[in-house]
Amino acid sequence: MNNLLTRYALPGLVTGLLLTSSLPAWAQQTRQEYLLTTDWKFAKGEQPDAAKPDFKDAKWQTVSVPHDWAIYGPFSPQNDLQTVKIEQNNEKEAKTKAGRTGGLPFIGTGWYRRQLQVPGFGAGKRAVLLFDGAMSDAHVFVNGREMGAWPYGYNSFAVDITEALQPGGNNVLAVRLQNLPEASRWYPGAGLYRNVHLIVTNDVHIPVWGTYLTTPTITADYAKVKLRTTVETPGQAYQPLRLDTEIRDAQGQVVATLSTPLTATDGQEFEQNLVVPKPQVWSPETPVLYAASSKLYAGDQLKDTYETRFGIRSFRFEAGKGFVLNGQPRKFKGVCNHHDLGPLGAAINVAALRRQLVLLKDLGCDAIRTSHNMPAPELVQLCDEMGFLLMVESFDEWKTPKVKNGYSRLFDQWAEKDLVNMVHRDRNHPSVIMWSIGNEVPDQGMPDGGKLARRLQDIVHREDPTRPVTLGMDKFDDALKNNFAAVLDVAGFNYKPHRYPEAQAKLPQGLILGSETASTVSSRGVYKFPVVKAKDKQYPDNQSSSYDLEASNWSQTPDEEFAAQDDLPYTLGEFVWTGFDYLGEPWPYDESWPSHSSYFGILDLAGLPKDRFYLYRARWNATAPTLHLLPHWTWPGREGQTTPVFCYTSYPSAELFVNGQSQGRQTKGPSDQPQTRYRLMWPEVKYQPGSIKVVAYDAQGKAVAEQEVRTAGKPHHIKLVADRTSLTADGQDLAYITARVEDAQGNLCPEATTQLQFSVGGAGRFRAVANGDPTNLQPFHEPRMKAFQGMLVAVVQATDQAGQVQFKASGKGLQGATLRLQATPSPTR
Ligand code: GAL
Repeated sequence: MNNLLTRYALPGLVTGLLLTSSLPAWAQQTRQEYLLTTDWKFAKGEQPDAAKPDFKDAKWQTVSVPHDWAIYGPFSPQNDLQTVKIEQNNEKEAKTKAGRTGGLPFIGTGWYRRQLQVPGFGAGKRAVLLFDGAMSDAHVFVNGREMGAWPYGYNSFAVDITEALQPGGNNVLAVRLQNLPEASRWYPGAGLYRNVHLIVTNDVHIPVWGTYLTTPTITADYAKVKLRTTVETPGQAYQPLRLDTEIRDAQGQVVATLSTPLTATDGQEFEQNLVVPKPQVWSPETPVLYAASSKLYAGDQLKDTYETRFGIRSFRFEAGKGFVLNGQPRKFKGVCNHHDLGPLGAAINVAALRRQLVLLKDLGCDAIRTSHNMPAPELVQLCDEMGFLLMVESFDEWKTPKVKNGYSRLFDQWAEKDLVNMVHRDRNHPSVIMWSIGNEVPDQGMPDGGKLARRLQDIVHREDPTRPVTLGMDKFDDALKNNFAAVLDVAGFNYKPHRYPEAQAKLPQGLILGSETASTVSSRGVYKFPVVKAKDKQYPDNQSSSYDLEASNWSQTPDEEFAAQDDLPYTLGEFVWTGFDYLGEPWPYDESWPSHSSYFGILDLAGLPKDRFYLYRARWNATAPTLHLLPHWTWPGREGQTTPVFCYTSYPSAELFVNGQSQGRQTKGPSDQPQTRYRLMWPEVKYQPGSIKVVAYDAQGKAVAEQEVRTAGKPHHIKLVADRTSLTADGQDLAYITARVEDAQGNLCPEATTQLQFSVGGAGRFRAVANGDPTNLQPFHEPRMKAFQGMLVAVVQATDQAGQVQFKASGKGLQGATLRLQATPSPTR
């Protein structure tokens, strides 16, 4: 939703009535938007008659939305057992898998109910509910009448409830949701996991996603802005309408205005062309935003106001040049992410998303693929504001199933509607530079796969001719043979760096995208010996080694993709699988419970960087140097044994010292071994307690930086580090507090597993905790958890009261720690 003019939380019962002589401010407004966050009632399981207004829900749980009913667990392999053969993973026979979708209880039916009093609603008004996403198969009832339904849980959809709403009275909203077994390949979440908006307008109004803004010409002197605004009028009758639009720059200065009458021949759409002088262009490095504010008049009566945020930027995909943004070629430094937020589950939270983006910025990442579905609108808005390029993806399946009850059931009836909503919602966002119509759809291999791709791509082009369409292909030979790959605007390949030259030679586009790359697995801070490159490697403890040499059988290590990207000028860059670990898909342990979350992330489920973070950072972060050593250096019992040391660095070379003794200098550089090209490695180091230290040299051979890792002593105290010290007292905001178990000298105890307890006092509450261990079955929402490799992250949420928040952590045998945060008043309260 672009319109942020009025946005309030609407309490369940509003007691003020409209009978006063001077109308309250909200009643005079042309449009009100409310977030329906509080006072929801929820019950799991089938609930006969729950749609009826007089149904008694007093015994149901009171929840606030966004809400994920399954994230509270408990984890169990019985929650989502599947006996399947995963063809994409090259499996030859069906096997029983636990935790494939997270081992959490998301399957089944759930109901939400809520009282609705709608201030400002009455004759001549319209009311619409906008669901940012509801998991899944939503049926929406108002006062017992079903007003709309949307099966795909990731899409946004609007339901006009005008006809069912009682003006001035009590109304009851009820939503039924149902998740089928074997409907997903990862944890989907469950329930009203994204925001629900209530929008009240006049009957002459601009509908949901009612503007389409493009910038057809951009020069240093001016940018043309073309704004198409749809208007809905009651009975479609012609009225003398006028639209006044002003464009404001990032400082709020008006830079262009236009007043346009709607003539009878315009139908229901205004077209306005405005000129912004000396535009400031949007890019990941300069995420400058403008806003077009439109006022809709019927005669001289103001009927509606609507705001469209946008950015001014040009881009093209050009054979021989690649992706060119504002005239500058660049390669995507991208990650794929699933939608869950680790310990918060799928329940959307802006602070949690922002933290992810802050971490990705530090990584040097500039692009995100919303695998494999439509993202929360808040993510798209944040990418506009913070500067990320987005590939917005739609589907993981078309007609041919990957899982028994997946999207293939809906495809024929819903694919077009789903694509239209996806494009309409997000097409004004400067961050969005590509649409993806699918991921590894098995239809690639079907005789009419190419036709299907063309049909879906045409739908997207019809709704937005300004952005190219791509798809992540895995069936290389099929996709090339049956014209599937040739149809797409941008040919995206998953895990095929060794075949890019062949694709380039055979395909017409002249460009190749690494749409999904480098499914390397690792557990943060876990190192396995001997250090060898391996595929699908398993260990008895269900962990993977952080030396970053273990990948899935269909994938490569990061360095192999780096080499292809560096050596082949026609490559567009990559989207690594994945930025963050996610719930579900615990490969290579999806048959050996208790693994329930992935090992693919550059950061773990708690958002803590794994070693791999620094391998990518060294390559991607152009503004700050990287120098990182691994493994940790606390190995009692390994004395004298070979313990390889790796250094991930942006510097060209470095010298390693063990207890002051040089182990020689290594230099990155051309090599037919991708690893030695991108990492500095000392494979023969023998472990002795003490320290390892690298000294890094710049291109001129000058020693410029060093890093040291010391052997840790006994666990001694807890150290707390918060990602922020000040919170907004809006009931939503979050601080992420990393707890480290340290020895007396402040070294991380890298194998510590002490259970830590937390308490939160003052203007905050404990929200969740995660330690990044995919095998840990402790619930995320209880204020205790074992440290994993010496660390974990607790999440504290602001209340709606300003004041100090005290966070305390304790653990047996450790000196505890306290941290204070400040919650400051929320500007919207
Ligand atoms: C890909 C797939 C992703 C994920 C990944 C794991 O084939 O597109 O969704 O399953 O493999 O490596």
